[in-house]
Amino acid sequence: MDTPRRIEQILASLGYGSRREVRGLIAAGRVTVGDVVQDDPSRKAVPATIRLDHAPLEFPEGLFVLLHKPAGWVCSHDRREGRRVYDLLPPRWLRRNPAVTSIGRLDRDTTGVLLITDDLALVHRLTSPKHHVEKVYEATLDRAPELRLVQEFASGTVVLDSEQKPCLPARLVLRGGVEVELTLTEGRFHQVKRMFAHFGYEVCRLHRSRFGDYTLGALTPGQWLEVNRGQ
Ligand code: URA
Repeated sequence: MDTPRRIEQILASLGYGSRREVRGLIAAGRVTVGDVVQDDPSRKAVPATIRLDHAPLEFPEGLFVLLHKPAGWVCSHDRREGRRVYDLLPPRWLRRNPAVTSIGRLDRDTTGVLLITDDLALVHRLTSPKHHVEKVYEATLDRAPELRLVQEFASGTVVLDSEQKPCLPARLVLRGGVEVELTLTEGRFHQVKRMFAHFGYEVCRLHRSRFGDYTLGALTPGQWLEVNRGQ
């Protein structure tokens, strides 16, 4: 990440404009490296050393934020599917290349921890079942669950509809009444809802309270916060 690259390429890939637009910023003397105004767009520099109007660039080494996903927003990039979680973020981020994406998806009605990044290696590390990253979900069911579900989910034998491989063992805690907490280390399509549906239960409310070490803290729905990769 700290390899020197062409200044115009860095600014364009971090969303500061098209190649032509960032050349305009450079020609206007607004871009500096170590207090020296840069007038050559092909000059190479390390992203973190570049300043625009004396301010550091946003997330020069890659973007990583935690969003409290509100209900009613989709993780798709396609506007036709509804209000996108990406529209809760500063518009410049959507012009970055590589593109900003969520690490796994939450359904439209699911709330809670959603990690967002432009670092594809990080997406892989946090979503691959091999890495056993825990995701904790709080769910409200349509009726009180039977105790045997705890054993069933822990057994690693639940095979979901139209799948062949059983789900990895999952930890279910019965919270009383219709409230449960389920911890998964994989992220299949609609996995929580399908695991409960397999035993005849409907999930009426779903909230992800933790992804790996990341929790919401004081974030309210729709708010985001920069987080540390090594956390
Ligand atoms: N499992 C689901 O069923 N939905 C989600 O949004 C996340 C996990």
